[in-house]
Amino acid sequence: MAPAIPFRFPGIEEDVTRLGGLLGQAIASTGWAPPRQAVALNLACGRADETGTLLAALAPGGAPLHYLGIDLRDAEIREARARWSPVAGPAQQLEFRCGDASRVDRLRELPPADFVFIRHQNFWTDIPVWTRLLRHALAHLHDEGVLVITSYFDREHELASACLTQCGARRRADLIHPASRPLPDAPGKSVDRRLAVFSRAS
Ligand SMILES: C[S@@+](CC[C@H](N)C(=O)[O-])C[C@H]1O[C@@H](n2cnc3c(N)ncnc32)[C@H](O)[C@@H]1O
Repeated sequence: MAPAIPFRFPGIEEDVTRLGGLLGQAIASTGWAPPRQAVALNLACGRADETGTLLAALAPGGAPLHYLGIDLRDAEIREARARWSPVAGPAQQLEFRCGDASRVDRLRELPPADFVFIRHQNFWTDIPVWTRLLRHALAHLHDEGVLVITSYFDREHELASACLTQCGARRRADLIHPASRPLPDAPGKSVDRRLAVFSRAS
């Protein structure tokens, strides 16, 4: 789905297109399918560049959906809102909130999520906060729902995956991106380098 305003940087459009392919492959391997009227959370979403990709995967053709993106950074949230709110279909509720995504336990009005997405999780920058974020995200997942993380680094991916497993998640898929775009700011860092799908273990 095309954004209402152009992406901020060159390369993002290709990145999110490739992400869509990887996500589709991972989800298909688990046998999961989005329910009608899915509730989707995009936690620590930043500019939420992947919103069009997620809508295409979860609610193709403008199917009903409630999608909520949360990030601490107000400027990124405002940019996400400007880019994506205008493309929502009439049966789709797209929301972007500035706030602490590690406290989704406080969002009592929100029904359990069918799909939780955390792109480029940042586990090793603040392990206590990200542990809380992952734990509450899993707790907020519907029994039949899936939680997807992507990571810039292999090691960080393994740490976040281990944390989720300790919190009671079951890993159902773990893919290495075959065409992940390398990023020059750190060795071994690339866009959506790894993608894993989890569900609740019981
Ligand atoms: C590596 S960036 C990834 C952003 C976006 N998901 C992406 O892939 O472009 C990590 C993001 O986590 C956000 N973040 C960190 N702690 C957070 C928290 N407690 N609640 C909400 N957002 C948080 C940061 O503001 C930042 O946007």
